[in-house]
Amino acid sequence: MSIEYVDYRDRYVPGGSAESEARRFHDALAKRRTVREFSDRPVSRDTIEWIVRAAGTAPSGANKQPWHFVAVQDRATKHAIRLAAEKEEREFYAHRANAEWLADLAPLGTDEHKEFLDVAPWVVVVFKVTRGDGDSQVYYVNESVGIAVGLFLAAAHLAGLATLTHTPSPMGFLTELLGRSKREKPFVVIPVGYPADGCRVPAAALRKKGLEEILTVV
Ligand SMILES: Cc1cc2nc3c(=O)[nH]c(=O)nc-3n(C[C@H](O)[C@H](O)[C@H](O)COP(=O)(O)O)c2cc1C
Repeated sequence: MSIEYVDYRDRYVPGGSAESEARRFHDALAKRRTVREFSDRPVSRDTIEWIVRAAGTAPSGANKQPWHFVAVQDRATKHAIRLAAEKEEREFYAHRANAEWLADLAPLGTDEHKEFLDVAPWVVVVFKVTRGDGDSQVYYVNESVGIAVGLFLAAAHLAGLATLTHTPSPMGFLTELLGRSKREKPFVVIPVGYPADGCRVPAAALRKKGLEEILTVV
């Protein structure tokens, strides 16, 4: 099979040195916080579309791009997601989560109340695609979708927006509620919007591992 190549001409060339640009990107990303109190201030559809386009640039196993984003702005649909998520989360906090999990969540102050699913102007539900077109294979789906979601969160943050990475447990209800194929599995729910006035975030979330804990150079 002859492979078609094109010149890699439109390479991104930043204004500063690699070191200063990497640091600048870090400094911007370090200001990202998961927010659980959103303003209802509108965010345009164009904005969401650019963020999803950014996510869609992600690398993926054999370039299969095994993701689908459902951007929900419809109030009734957001409310239906909230009701179903809260039902699962009531069970999760009361029975499903073990003691260690609950103890790990305690400093974050999370509970079964998911008002943000009503309030945030957009609730983006990310699906992972487990079989491709024509029932074709897909590869490294979790890795690929995880990277795409990371780009999504970074793009939203750099647009000045807040996000919450929400995983109602379990979240199979989203497939039917949003009319998706059984080949797609819900991966994460991401409310997107501006933080509420006076929004507070848990201090525990600010504690990040130091470089010496997350990097080994050999
Ligand atoms: C895969 C994943 C699932 C998460 N699920 C939830 C969730 O269901 N509810 C919630 O309030 N936060 C959830 N979070 C947010 C984390 O609690 C948050 O990222 C963490 O406390 C660090 O805070 P930061 O995002 O502000 O750095 C989740 C984050 C990730 C990456």
